[in-house]
Amino acid sequence: MYSKKLARLAFGVLTEYTVSCPLTRSVSSRVNAARSLCSWTLCLHHRQKNQLSEGFSRRLIRLNVRTVSQTTLDPAEVRKFQAMASKWWDLQGDFAALHSMNDLRVPFIRDNLLNMHGIRQLGKPLAGLRILDVGCGGGVLSEPLGRLGTDVLGIDPVEDSVRTAELHSSYDPDLRERVRYQACTLEELAEEEAEGFHAVVASEVVEHLADLDAFASCCQQVLKPGGSLFITTINKTNLSYVFGIVAAEQLLRIVPSGTHDWEKFISPEDLERLLESFGFYVEAIRGMMYNPLTGAWSWQQNTAINYALHAIKCKEEPQPGQVWAESENLDKPGRATNYS
Ligand SMILES: C[S@@+](CC[C@H](N)C(=O)[O-])C[C@H]1O[C@@H](n2cnc3c(N)ncnc32)[C@H](O)[C@@H]1O
Repeated sequence: MYSKKLARLAFGVLTEYTVSCPLTRSVSSRVNAARSLCSWTLCLHHRQKNQLSEGFSRRLIRLNVRTVSQTTLDPAEVRKFQAMASKWWDLQGDFAALHSMNDLRVPFIRDNLLNMHGIRQLGKPLAGLRILDVGCGGGVLSEPLGRLGTDVLGIDPVEDSVRTAELHSSYDPDLRERVRYQACTLEELAEEEAEGFHAVVASEVVEHLADLDAFASCCQQVLKPGGSLFITTINKTNLSYVFGIVAAEQLLRIVPSGTHDWEKFISPEDLERLLESFGFYVEAIRGMMYNPLTGAWSWQQNTAINYALHAIKCKEEPQPGQVWAESENLDKPGRATNYS
């Protein structure tokens, strides 16, 4: 009890500190690397729109057109979520923070898709689009996406979570037709569903995967050209260790102890670079902050702990072995060098 209070106090102080720390790049001012040098049509289009600065140090490197054979599946992660498979819809339970995260991530996905597709259909604004929710768990995010009119396929390797998701959405006649679930991995689905989706969502999932290359490659395969990839995840910083693991798991018990492994966190910079190497360009990155006192999330400039990312699959296939990419030189204009 006492330690909880102390932790909350420390959390509040640290939150103040991180929120007031202006470390994040502004999305609108960003001119990202892939966009600048990607030779694919969409990337060229964006390059023209965003005007590269003079003196921008770059070199051309060859990207491997990768054959990724690894799996995203980490058996330890599957066991962890298996043990929680019945708890998805306990609004005060282990997944409470995911429920409240919907207040940010659902509008983030909706508005970016509306911008991309220019749809304006009252009531069901995303009607006609297909979304793949990777690592859907019990359907906490799949359901509100379905209510926007989109067809959602939620996949998760934990069969019991998928059963929980199916049961829950079956109570809502509006969702029965539109939201489906499948117990499988992304790599299994990628074999059946080439370029089948307008958007892929992986919210609070990449930090649980065994192999991010396999993940990015499969997302590339299942997305339509020009399709959107939405990721929310945790940055790999000292602060994310303090907040995401020590405070959230050990002190405040917002999520069960052992949920996260700091080693598997990824910075927005590294995630962006990875996605670019698989033929995406990153359109937006926004910091997110959870307030344990109110249980609410808010957008922050700072990406030091949690962040949301929107990437777009470039429209044309690369010529084999001929994809232009940005150099590893991080000293780029329009890019804040400190993401932490
Ligand atoms: C923190 S939960 C997020 C659930 C859901 N995306 C949400 O935000 O409500 C992480 C989910 O990723 C799933 N997961 C773990 N490994 C996975 C993999 N290799 N492929 C897809 N999902 C995976 C887990 O089973 C779990 O449901």
